[in-house]
Amino acid sequence: MTYEMIEVRVEAEKVGIITLNRPKQLNALNDQLMDELGAALKAFDADEKIGCIILTGSEKAFAAGADITVMAKFTFADAYKGDFITRNWETIRTIRKPVIAAVSGFALGGGCELAMMCDFIIAADNAKFGQPEIKLGTIPGAGGTQRLPRAVGKSKAMDMALTGRMMNAEEAERAGLVSRVVALDKLQEEALGAALVISDYSQITVMAAKEAVNRAFEGTLSDGLMFERRLFHSLFATADQKEGMDAFVNKRKAVFTHQ
Ligand code: HXC
Repeated sequence: MTYEMIEVRVEAEKVGIITLNRPKQLNALNDQLMDELGAALKAFDADEKIGCIILTGSEKAFAAGADITVMAKFTFADAYKGDFITRNWETIRTIRKPVIAAVSGFALGGGCELAMMCDFIIAADNAKFGQPEIKLGTIPGAGGTQRLPRAVGKSKAMDMALTGRMMNAEEAERAGLVSRVVALDKLQEEALGAALVISDYSQITVMAAKEAVNRAFEGTLSDGLMFERRLFHSLFATADQKEGMDAFVNKRKAVFTHQ
């Protein structure tokens, strides 16, 4: 597939990097971009050599939201019958390998929601997060009212959704929305460093860890704990667990074969 609205590349033969590429529109998200993003994510997920994926934007914008020029013309019937935004907007949720969002500049509306669909967010010090839909006479439609409270708690999520204000990188880190903040010129290096660390671990174990953490946001604590325990037990069936623990015991570096 050839891409027009994203750029795709591989680093060190094991990290897939997807860069949103509609700079003039601050990476505003439309169906074509999301179709391309979905296809690229699925291709990396299916590629045995890829251990981790990075999703990023430009220095000025990760993504400034869904394309308002498209939505402005929508009727209720268009949105409801067309099931806006189910079509390929949440493909990222189905990806089993880790996806890191490397965010600089604006991550607003659907852009903030897209970042929150990733497994964790590394932010540049110029990052700005927000759910400004209220200013447009609407509300978040791709998880902003659900994932933001889980990330930052009710009070701050309400503040963001009701006032439409932006949160800077420092506030986002304090609130737990992002895992790390780095200088803008160090963002790609930091994200790649994290992705390389992850890629060197057992892919099976990494996928299991991702699945287990995601379970924390579904269902009850006791169900989540049982899910975690059974996954933990099952990992003793892998060659990678044998390798990891043998390497520790024999004071050598583990070499995982993803089996
Ligand atoms: C379409 C957009 C856009 C968007 C920016 N642009 N955001 N086009 N959809 N979401 C365009 C502008 O129209 C402008 O085009 C160009 O990008 C540069 O933007 P400026 O406004 O000139 O830049 P600046 O003054 O730096 O302001 C940056 C900004 C502002 C604060 C990010 O652009 C802004 O407020 N954007 C809208 C943010 C927003 O409301 N997002 C939520 C959308 S609703 P021209 O042609 O004039 O150069 C949403 C719902 C999700 O996401 C629902 C489920 C998916």
